[in-house]
Amino acid sequence: MSDYTDAPLLVAARGGTPSRTPVWFMRQAGRSLPEYRKLRAGTAMLDACLDPDMVREITMQPVRRHDVDGAILFSDIVVPLKIAGVDLDIVPGTGPVIAKPIADRRDVEALPALLPGQAQPVADAIGLLLKELDGVPLIGFAGAPFTLASYLVEGGPSKNHERTKALMHGDPELWHALLDRLADITGAFLRVQVDAGVQAVQLFDSWAGALSERDYREFVLPHSTKVLRSVTTVPRIHFGVGTGELLPAMREAGADVVGVDWRTPLDVAVRRLRAAAPDLPLPVVQGNLDPALLFAGLPALEREVERIKHEGRAAAGHIFNLGHGVLPDTDPDMITKAVELVHRAG
Ligand code: CP3
Repeated sequence: MSDYTDAPLLVAARGGTPSRTPVWFMRQAGRSLPEYRKLRAGTAMLDACLDPDMVREITMQPVRRHDVDGAILFSDIVVPLKIAGVDLDIVPGTGPVIAKPIADRRDVEALPALLPGQAQPVADAIGLLLKELDGVPLIGFAGAPFTLASYLVEGGPSKNHERTKALMHGDPELWHALLDRLADITGAFLRVQVDAGVQAVQLFDSWAGALSERDYREFVLPHSTKVLRSVTTVPRIHFGVGTGELLPAMREAGADVVGVDWRTPLDVAVRRLRAAAPDLPLPVVQGNLDPALLFAGLPALEREVERIKHEGRAAAGHIFNLGHGVLPDTDPDMITKAVELVHRAG
């Protein structure tokens, strides 16, 4: 078993000085890789997430190919809901689809709890990975209560989250009851992963950027705080898309590392985080290459990587990543190149 204390990702997450700028990519496992498409052929997404050996292999594929500094467990944000008993599916090209969306108090009360034993296939996959990942930290993850609530209330992906916001503002008590249950499910799912040995976790609140800071603080922050408080033994990364206005509040929820999308330059993010909490240590950030830049050719990619590394120096630590997930049509060789550019000294 390797010693992970010097792993660049974990050193940077603690605000130390890593031997090289750590880099991994959200959605590094998945459709950009031909070996993934080959392995997944004929297996439904959710079946793949609950097959420990398939999870092991898919998680390892980008690590072998790209020399990334972190492995992210192959799973999905709806996996804990599925194994708890919610009737849902992941539809290719669409995303999660819920058979019976949540509309009223009865639906909220019927939402099952997650029993740790139900997540055994995920714990087993982590056990297999820890034997194979030689010094590369394994990142566990879960969807944050708001983003899960959006899928459950809308019934699937949503552009405007109108039903979700209608419930939030129309029946705040029911909204808080729903998010409280989801925080328990998410917390239980993250604890299974930490107990099984993941060395960091990321909480994905992908769609939180749809909210004003005021609504985020009132309707979401207390519940994400509860989740992040339940896993304090490993570094916690907290990420959402379009969250430039929410970064200080998302840090307050309990993030050791604040994920930043490509819309906010990292030095601007650091300035906002410092201004909001001058007494806290300088923040650690993760991000924030625009995933579309992987289509723009090498000279443009090189310029952007250099700019982001430079801006990242304003933080106490910088974990290089995309500003959102790898797009399915990305040329995997460009991902490998991006990793080389990040690791290049200077
Ligand atoms: O990052 C990784 O490499 C780990 C894998 C990962 C997946 N989903 C695998 C996946 C992670 C971290 C997620 C999280 C996830 N799932 C989020 C949060 C991250 C984000 O992108 O904001 C969200 C919002 C989801 C919900 C979801 N699941 C979507 C939007 C989709 C894509 C639908 C589509 O087909 O375009 C999924 C399915 C999914 N999850 C796929 C993968 C590889 C595609 C399934 C396939 O290969 O057919």
